[in-house]
Amino acid sequence: MTFRKNLVSFLCLVLFFNLTECNQNINHPGHLKPFGSSGPFLQLEEVTSLPTKIFFENYVQPKQAVVMRNFVNQFPAFKSWKDEYLYSKASDNDDYKILVETQKKESRDQDTLKLSLTEFLDNYKSRSIYMVNEVPPYLKKDVLLPQPLQCGQAPTVLEETIMWFSSGGTSSVVHTDDYENILCVFDGTKELVLVDYFKHKRIADSIIDEYKGSYSSMDVDKVDYKLFPDIENLEYYRVNVSAGDCLYIPFKWIHQVRSYGRNLAINFWFNYEKIFGNTLFPEECSNNKLDLSKTLDKFTYSASKNDFYSNFKTFIMRQVNLGSRQLNDWISLILGEREFTIEEKQYIEDLLGEA
Ligand SMILES: *[C@@H]1O[C@H](CO)[C@@H](O)[C@H](O)[C@H]1NC(C)=O
Repeated sequence: MTFRKNLVSFLCLVLFFNLTECNQNINHPGHLKPFGSSGPFLQLEEVTSLPTKIFFENYVQPKQAVVMRNFVNQFPAFKSWKDEYLYSKASDNDDYKILVETQKKESRDQDTLKLSLTEFLDNYKSRSIYMVNEVPPYLKKDVLLPQPLQCGQAPTVLEETIMWFSSGGTSSVVHTDDYENILCVFDGTKELVLVDYFKHKRIADSIIDEYKGSYSSMDVDKVDYKLFPDIENLEYYRVNVSAGDCLYIPFKWIHQVRSYGRNLAINFWFNYEKIFGNTLFPEECSNNKLDLSKTLDKFTYSASKNDFYSNFKTFIMRQVNLGSRQLNDWISLILGEREFTIEEKQYIEDLLGEA
C-alpha cells in the first residue's frame, strides 16, 4: 500500500509534474504539517458526571466520543502517584517487570525493554523511554473504575487497564483500537486528534493502510497530502485531556495522541459486545455517582480470549450493535430455517451471551 502510494507520487514527480492532478494537494494548508493541524474542526461534548446507563445509551451505542472533565481527581492515584510513592511500592515488587518502549515518537517496529518499575523511575527523565503496561497488581488499589463503568453489569465489560507513563514529548502513530476506550489522565496533558470512523469510513480506511496493526504509515509530524490525497476532506476533533480528565474514544475511531509534561494516564479498554442483549441497565444506573470503594483490585478482568468462538462472537455482535445485521438473521443463517433442538438453542445462546 505504502509502496503503491510512493510509486504514484514518484511518477507524478518524474513524468507528469506539470499536471495539476498531481499537485493540487500540496497547496493545502495542512500539507507537511502535523496530523490534524488544519481543520475543519468539530467540537466534542463535555460532561462533569456520567452515570452508566446514560453513557452506554447516549455515547457507546451511537459511537460518539465525549470529554469527561474532573473524573479521576478523587482516585487515590491522582494524589499519590508521585515518583517517591511509586518507587516505594515498586521496590517491594522488583521482580514484576513492565514493558517499556524506547522511542517517544511511536514506531511499531521499535525495540522494547522489560524493566522493573524502579529501573524505569531511575531513567525515565533522562532517557527516551515510555512505560506501556497493564497497571501493576500492586498499584491496582489506587485506581477506581471510572464512574460510567461502575453500575450494573458494566464492570464485566472491562478487558485491560493500560498505564502510560513518560516524562512527556511522546507522539503516537495515527491508529484505531479494537476496543472501546476510556482514556484518563492523572498527570500532564494529552492532546488528541480524533476522526469519526463511521462518518468517514472510506477515507478512514484509506488512511489506515497498515491493516495488520490498524495504523497508518503516515508521518504524524509531516503529513504528505500527495500520499494521502483524500484527507483534505476529513473533519477533526482536537482536544486536550488534562490531569483529572477522561475521554471516551469509540472503537474504530481514528486517533493520534501527543503528551506534554510528566505524563501518567490509564486507558480502560472495554468490550461492549460482552453485555449485548443485557444492555437494559436498571434504573439506578441512570444516576449512579462515583463509588470510592470500587478499586481495580476488587475486579478480575483480562483481555478476551483470542480463540475462534470469541472472535466470531465479537464479529457478529459488532454487526448487530452497528445495526447492519439483526441477531435473528444470524441465528437463522447459522441454524437454517428448520426448528433447532434445545441443545443447539442452548449452545447458540451461550455462544452469543444471550442466555
Ligand atoms: C494542548 O496543550 C498544548 C500544551 O500546553 C498546547 O500546545 C496545545 O495548543 C493545546 N491544544 C489544544 C487543542 O488546546
